[in-house]
Amino acid sequence: MMLERKQRFNVPEIRSKVEQISTDIGTDVFQGSQIVAYAELEQIYSGAMREIGTKLENLDDEFQLKNRHNPIHHMECRLKSIDSTIGKLRKRGLPLTVESIRQNLYDIAGIRVICNYVTDVYAVANTLSEQSDIEVIRIKDYIRNPKPNGYRSLHVIYQVPVFLSDGPHPTPVEVQFRTSAMDYWASLEHRLRYKNSIEDDEREKHYETLKECARQLADIEDRMQQIHQELG
Ligand code: GTP
Ligand code: MG
Repeated sequence: MMLERKQRFNVPEIRSKVEQISTDIGTDVFQGSQIVAYAELEQIYSGAMREIGTKLENLDDEFQLKNRHNPIHHMECRLKSIDSTIGKLRKRGLPLTVESIRQNLYDIAGIRVICNYVTDVYAVANTLSEQSDIEVIRIKDYIRNPKPNGYRSLHVIYQVPVFLSDGPHPTPVEVQFRTSAMDYWASLEHRLRYKNSIEDDEREKHYETLKECARQLADIEDRMQQIHQELG
């Protein structure tokens, strides 16, 4: 089952958001025809997200039939909001244009795939990577190499063609594969990161605890995986 977190925009909505952002930051972004170009970009990224989502659902069905086990627990998808997109371009000092988004940002379309076991994560990710119409643009394996704060997940940027009336548009989609335990950990860490009303030493203490929790969760997952495999 795919849960879509955000509604897509239409042109008048994009225009009013862009006007608001331009006022807020004191710089004009996406003038004139750029508004329609941005709507087209969103439509293509949304199509790419659907393409990858369908591929993942098909693989999940196949695994279920062959192995009597669903590797995917559930998926979530989202298109990056226009505010975050412009925020990211500004943070990186990139031009505030639709072309610049196309060339520089790979996470406009994002899918989070929550699996039961680490073996499921790699089975699904590797099988998708091998499909003939897919290109792997980048892999960041924070499961083999967790981040210093304890964050674990496998991030893969896939490029998939979206076929429109003028032909194929190769489009990147960022897929974050993780287990339920990794997801549960990441949600709490995310809350801590964005919590403003907290003293520095308190935050530091929670970060230490979270680091230890990440290690313990990884250990528990290993042991449960063992049982899962022995049960066959
Ligand atoms: P940015 O998207 O600008 O961060 O750069 P990137 O795409 O090179 O980064 P990366 O692939 O490392 O991470 C992208 C996404 O993974 C983030 O937007 C988060 O959703 C997630 N993520 C990465 N690191 C962390 C972390 O430490 N904690 C949590 N909760 N999520 C993380
Ligand atoms: Mg990113």
